[in-house]
Amino acid sequence: MLWTVILVLGPILYLLYRHYVNVIKHWKLLGVPGPEPTLVWGNLKSLLNVDYPPPFQLRDWTRKYGKTYGIYEGSRRVLVTSDPDLLQDVFLKKFDHFHGRKMGSLAGNVDKEPNVNVFAARGLRWKRIRTIANPTFSVSNLKKMLPTVQDSVTILVNLLDKHAEDEKAFNIHLYFQELTIDVIARVALGHDESLQGNNPYIELCKALFNRPLRNPFEVGSSLFPEVQPWIRKAATATAKLRGMPFPILFEKLTAVVNERRNNREKYKGRSDFIELFLDAEAEEDWVKEGHHLDHAGDYDKSALKVSKKLTSNEIVAQCFVFLLAGFDTTANSLAYVSYLLATNPDVQAKLYAEIDDICTDEQITYEQITQMKYLDAVMKEGLRLYPLGAFANSRICMKPCTLGNIPIEEGTFVQADVWTIHYDKELWGADADQFRPERWEGEEKRHQMAWLS
Ligand code: HEM
Repeated sequence: MLWTVILVLGPILYLLYRHYVNVIKHWKLLGVPGPEPTLVWGNLKSLLNVDYPPPFQLRDWTRKYGKTYGIYEGSRRVLVTSDPDLLQDVFLKKFDHFHGRKMGSLAGNVDKEPNVNVFAARGLRWKRIRTIANPTFSVSNLKKMLPTVQDSVTILVNLLDKHAEDEKAFNIHLYFQELTIDVIARVALGHDESLQGNNPYIELCKALFNRPLRNPFEVGSSLFPEVQPWIRKAATATAKLRGMPFPILFEKLTAVVNERRNNREKYKGRSDFIELFLDAEAEEDWVKEGHHLDHAGDYDKSALKVSKKLTSNEIVAQCFVFLLAGFDTTANSLAYVSYLLATNPDVQAKLYAEIDDICTDEQITYEQITQMKYLDAVMKEGLRLYPLGAFANSRICMKPCTLGNIPIEEGTFVQADVWTIHYDKELWGADADQFRPERWEGEEKRHQMAWLS
């Protein structure tokens, strides 16, 4: 019996062993440096350290292995780079080779899944959704949003006034989270009134961003990509049981979109994002006429003609990504900038003077905001020192090519090491470590990829 087991299992284990040995040979064979990977895990364990944020791990490896190096997230090959010329190739010049982002290992097939948003989509599907989503941040739409934003901010300022009276330290980040979710719920999802302190989305959004780094399904998908579809099925089937916020939030948003679709007359004249997306919804008759929506597809800039339509699932998915993308990033950047202003009183005084000088009335106009150049510089400098979307600056190779002299195969990921770039003295000068908004004011020329946010 023992021999039968050994004879059956032995060759399988040996083949698996050979497979994983080959996986972690990739970068070495190409002469690309990088941290020593271990079998099956690659370098993933170092990126799952709850006490040390992954962007800092990338920065540490850059110090050791140079501007461009290779790692393995389980079986996923990732080229990490802080070389601005290489990044210019990936993000701009060779966009048709890199028109998809590096998504989490548990993500489904973004060309086929129904619930795909603009952040996850690639190729023609990305182009189609992006074309429809673009007007959400047009100048005219921003102007329409302004009174709502100002109302939400006024409510926040009144709440903060109470803290100013008792002069005790408090956590301002929580207030900014309330503010950003409030603004998004109002300008994107059609909430009429401010719900600061009582927003139904906030706990779900927080839970989404606080989910454990070491999610066993996610880790399993990185280690064993061959069985990812099954792992994903198991994760989806048990998500609610495990109290995962994703399906609950999705259900909530689906209900909101359905309500709006069924009562279009009632909401006529609204200019929030749902309205814009519903205007683009593909009707059943349109589909029956033989039209189809571009999904996957090669990205060829010259031959781009996409139908300006969204499926119902895609509408909910866009609301979902706007809610999430706008919540954490904006709240965090406001909190960091507040910290920088508190610790740099001279900058604070200069900013205060600019605001006082330009905003002479109670109501602030769009034009006044565009005139506040120092405010713009302060925000950009804050995002330089604390880049919050660092991991979003990534791509997947869709068509083989070379980067520098490194051959890149289809399916390889490229990840920008944003923290290194933002503190690079060659790009930012000897005072790169300092908070100096003035660097944004002059004519200082710098590389297009020096600031990625
Ligand atoms: C300080 C605030 C923000 C930061 C630091 C930030 C950062 C980023 C980064 C780094 C990317 C990836 C860029 C790339 O791959 O080239 C991205 C993409 C995106 N962000 Fe933001 N973001 C912020 C605010 C927002 C807000 C307020 C929204 C919407 C309400 C939003 C929605 C999106 C979307 C939809 C994408 C994907 C765009 C596309 O693929 O066409 N972000 N963001």
